[in-house]
Amino acid sequence: GSIALIGAPVDGGAGMSGCIMGPAALRVANIGGALGNLGYQVEDWGNVTPEKVELNLGGATHHENEVAGFARSLYKTGVDAFSKDFLPIFLGGDHSLSMGTVTAAARHAAAKGKKLHVLWLDAHPDFNRPDTSHSGNMHGMSAAFFCGEDGFDGVLEQKVEPVDPRNFHVFGVRSIDQKEGELLHERGVNVMDMRHIDEKGVASLIRSVLEAVQRDDAMLHVSLDVDFLDPVYAPGVGTTVPGGATYREAHLVMEMICDSGLMTSLDLVELNPYLDERGKSTRMLVNLTESGFGRRVFDRPTSEY
Ligand code: ARG
Ligand code: MN
Ligand code: MN
Ligand code: MN
Repeated sequence: GSIALIGAPVDGGAGMSGCIMGPAALRVANIGGALGNLGYQVEDWGNVTPEKVELNLGGATHHENEVAGFARSLYKTGVDAFSKDFLPIFLGGDHSLSMGTVTAAARHAAAKGKKLHVLWLDAHPDFNRPDTSHSGNMHGMSAAFFCGEDGFDGVLEQKVEPVDPRNFHVFGVRSIDQKEGELLHERGVNVMDMRHIDEKGVASLIRSVLEAVQRDDAMLHVSLDVDFLDPVYAPGVGTTVPGGATYREAHLVMEMICDSGLMTSLDLVELNPYLDERGKSTRMLVNLTESGFGRRVFDRPTSEY
């Protein structure tokens, strides 16, 4: 099928502004051309226009109108892309955009009688509710939202098709808030923190996720937060956390996802070009996307891996 690039310059979900420039930076780095060179048909759908929303969520939550406005238009554009048989790549924008993109994927999956698994490549699980978040930043709440947690009434007009928290796979985390951690336990989220990765390695853990997706004959949404990577490789993000994925660990994840043939949608989020160093993080994201769509150092049969 073809790939649709969908820009989402949402900025208010992060604690610091700058993600508004993310989609533009990814286009400057020629993400569309890179995918074209790998043999894909690519359509750039431009940036979505946020809807006007008036909403007041609880706790310290802020910028809910901007975030919900983007979520609503991403949901609709996402559903449209899936129904036209495109594989959408959402160019962020802060991670709150997944409130729209993952719910769109979940809606499409439900319409086809399928499950949706979500692979969250991130230093953070983003599993806060408005009442548990200390920062009030909605980029730290998107996964709680699409897994059906309370406190988000009015973000979307439609009823959310919740992702089963056991099909929510968090990979690479190394920063979890207290109540957020308790909620992850209660809900049975599949949390693979950096220590797990140190002990078991990327390959065995990612293989187990991909096998679960395969077993369920499910759709797979991948959400790649820049801070998944160690800040050495990707400094262009507002929420750097030391001890992240190395250059090769991150590429291996994307290569294995590609080999599986299971990915049905992708978010590239939290890129903050204002904080970047001469395009380093932008290029990293484009290169990882290439690995996720078939770029190889040396081709050998999949069976040899
Ligand atoms: N847990 C923190 C919070 O809720 C950090 C979230 C960071 N999220 C992100 N997408 N970078 O504020
Ligand atoms: Mn604010
Ligand atoms: Mn995140
Ligand atoms: Mn993060």
